[in-house]
Amino acid sequence: MSRVEKFQKVLVTGGAGFIGSNYVHYALTHHSSWEIVVLDKLTYAGNLDNLKDISDRITFVQGDIANPEDVDKAVKGVDAILNFAAESHVDRSLRDPLPFIRTNIEGTLLLLEAARKHQIKRFLHVSTDEVYGDLVGSDRHSLESDTLSPRSPYAASKAGAEHLVFSYGISYGLDVLITRGSNTYGLYQYPEKIIPLFITNALESKSLPIYGDGSAVRDYLYVEDHCSGIDTVLHAGTSGRAYNLGARMEVNGIEVAKTILGLLDRPESLMQSVSDRPGHDYRYSVDPSATEALGWQRQWDFQRGMAHTVAWYKQNSDWWQAVKDKKVFQEHYNQWYAR
Ligand SMILES: NC(=O)c1ccc[n+]([C@@H]2O[C@H](COP(=O)([O-])OP(=O)(O)OC[C@H]3O[C@@H](n4cnc5c(N)ncnc54)[C@H](O)[C@@H]3O)[C@@H](O)[C@H]2O)c1
Repeated sequence: MSRVEKFQKVLVTGGAGFIGSNYVHYALTHHSSWEIVVLDKLTYAGNLDNLKDISDRITFVQGDIANPEDVDKAVKGVDAILNFAAESHVDRSLRDPLPFIRTNIEGTLLLLEAARKHQIKRFLHVSTDEVYGDLVGSDRHSLESDTLSPRSPYAASKAGAEHLVFSYGISYGLDVLITRGSNTYGLYQYPEKIIPLFITNALESKSLPIYGDGSAVRDYLYVEDHCSGIDTVLHAGTSGRAYNLGARMEVNGIEVAKTILGLLDRPESLMQSVSDRPGHDYRYSVDPSATEALGWQRQWDFQRGMAHTVAWYKQNSDWWQAVKDKKVFQEHYNQWYAR
């Protein structure tokens, strides 16, 4: 029996990036009647190959969420917006924060303005657990009611965007929601992030650069679970609320490296300690109970998610090799790890 869909036409910003492209795939499977528009600037992290197999089922618009004309054009006629578009890498924000302010804050503001003008039904903003700041030294898990305490320019820009999103709910009655997902991994992730970097370096028999003593802990969430969480919140979330998404699995950098090396049968001597990230947060961990109360459950544990992810990178070397061959990847990698 087909169910009645709440939305007909949905705008996914940042849909050529890692989580956005996975969400578009997820949405086409679970909401086959949706018309999906993807608005993406195609920065170094955006990749049309991530959408290649479904390119005839979506409308792709290359454009900038921080450009009012691009936004206005893309928002016209849609009834929901999911904002994945962002500058997303903490290390790059430490080198050059300005693009983070422009895209993550100004871009979100322009989307909110367009949502107001075009009377969008729902606006879901994809945020991060990094807005909570460091939990090191405590065994508690961040709750949505916690004070935001971002500590990197990336996290600060995401927290700034969140305040704007909530303000549009209060000031203009816009139906807004926020998800705060934990560190995510899976297919199509740009290989500057720890898991695909370690996998692809191991496949190339290169060293795995581990920050400091490798004890920093993250709550790793498989990308399909992140997408189903976003979709649950979009459909069942209470307007004006934030929702945590996490796997309830805390894993440190050494454990990530050992898991990958084990799955690829590579020696642990490939692990190499490098200068720690300045201002490194040592522990993030969210309590996802509020999202679970909406009916969401993660389906993947770390071992199964990692086995699936490693297998995908093994089978898709053309995808990541093309990304790693680019100057924009190599420049950042060489400068950052040589600092
Ligand atoms: N990756 C994670 O672990 C994680 C965890 C929690 C939350 N998030 C959030 O999820 C969202 C997606 O993250 P990701 O890892 O897929 O990022 P990503 O860097 O892989 O993709 C970002 C996408 O946004 C596009 N983009 C960047 N600036 C743009 C602009 N000005 N206009 C239009 N498009 C633009 C890029 O081209 C790219 O396709 C982000 O908002 C991020 O903050 C990520």
